[in-house]
Amino acid sequence: MVYYAHSGLRYLVLLAGIVAIVILARGLSGKRPYDRPARISSAIYTGSLHLQVVLGIIMVVLGRWYPALMGHLIMNLLAVAVATMLSAWGRRETDSRRGYKYALTGVVVSLLLLVGGIAAIGRHPFQSRALDQIEAGAR
Ligand code: HEM
Repeated sequence: MVYYAHSGLRYLVLLAGIVAIVILARGLSGKRPYDRPARISSAIYTGSLHLQVVLGIIMVVLGRWYPALMGHLIMNLLAVAVATMLSAWGRRETDSRRGYKYALTGVVVSLLLLVGGIAAIGRHPFQSRALDQIEAGAR
């Protein structure tokens, strides 16, 4: 069950990342103050990432492990650290333009790391073996 949740939540994380990029890029180009939509979209992205890490760690603790998962784990933890740190910098920055730049960089860099982390276990970002298993079971 945790595996299916982890596999499914990944789509939400990726969607939240793309929505945050649109909102932060709009804020940056519109020269707005670092406003509520920017804060909320960044918080949803980092929050869903944190939940994803918790589910991943639960899977490992329950015994799902093979060596290639180390790359998945390291790259994804790095992604979470980058997103969390840069979104906090963005929030605290008094110059709103710089704030948007920090937060936007955090989302873009962390998404690239996530793609690498997912590739480390031989999947592309939208590929789901969990879904394949459900479909095979239904046949
Ligand atoms: C750093 C903490 C994380 C740990 C310990 C972890 C652990 C795992 C484990 C044990 C699996 C099962 C692998 C398998 O059975 O082949 C898995 C699969 C997966 N993880 Fe993570 N994960 C973490 C973070 C993330 C993050 C942040 C994302 C992306 C947002 C992610 C996306 C995926 C995807 C897409 C799969 C494959 C699901 C499928 O094929 O249906 N993981 N992870």
